[in-house]
Amino acid sequence: MNFKDNIRVIPDFPQPGIRFKDITTLLQNGAIYKEAIDQLKEMVKEKEIDVIAGPEARGFVVGAPLAYSLGVGFVPIRKSGKLPGETIEADYALEYGKDKLAMHKDGIKPGQKVLIADDLLATGGTIQTSIDLIKQLGGEIVGAAFLIELSYLDGRSKLGGIDVVSLVQY
Ligand code: PRP
Repeated sequence: MNFKDNIRVIPDFPQPGIRFKDITTLLQNGAIYKEAIDQLKEMVKEKEIDVIAGPEARGFVVGAPLAYSLGVGFVPIRKSGKLPGETIEADYALEYGKDKLAMHKDGIKPGQKVLIADDLLATGGTIQTSIDLIKQLGGEIVGAAFLIELSYLDGRSKLGGIDVVSLVQY
């Protein structure tokens, strides 16, 4: 399956010079979306995973179906101000912009094995911050899974040597 054919590249979005990888074209095709999640599942299914954590918003469309198909829980990592319970928060820098990520304090139990899932690994800032939050809660990171990896940005090198898998690389 050539997933790249189903990912639309939009130049100069959201800023001049950024070539945005638009996964909506992949998601709207049920067979391809299912195949993508199934292949990611094959790549991680040997790991011991208690829960999958995924950052909003696009991390949800990868993390939640992957969690469902593995029969494990899903824990949202959200932008500040969205989660109703007690949270911990951390600042982070994006490929374009800045924000704050938050998790519920009781989202992860100490010692739980956590796989992180997202649509895209770019600079790695989002996942680095997600790792920090999960570790603060006592979770153990068993790896990270992405639909897309922008290899030229080398986000992997920021993730402290955790196991990283991705379906498509640019
Ligand atoms: C995008 C993408 C990843 C992150 C990758 O999310 O979905 O989460 O950026 O970039 P990084 O590796 O440089 O951190 P974004 O924050 O744009 O949010 P969205 O999913 O809500 O669009």
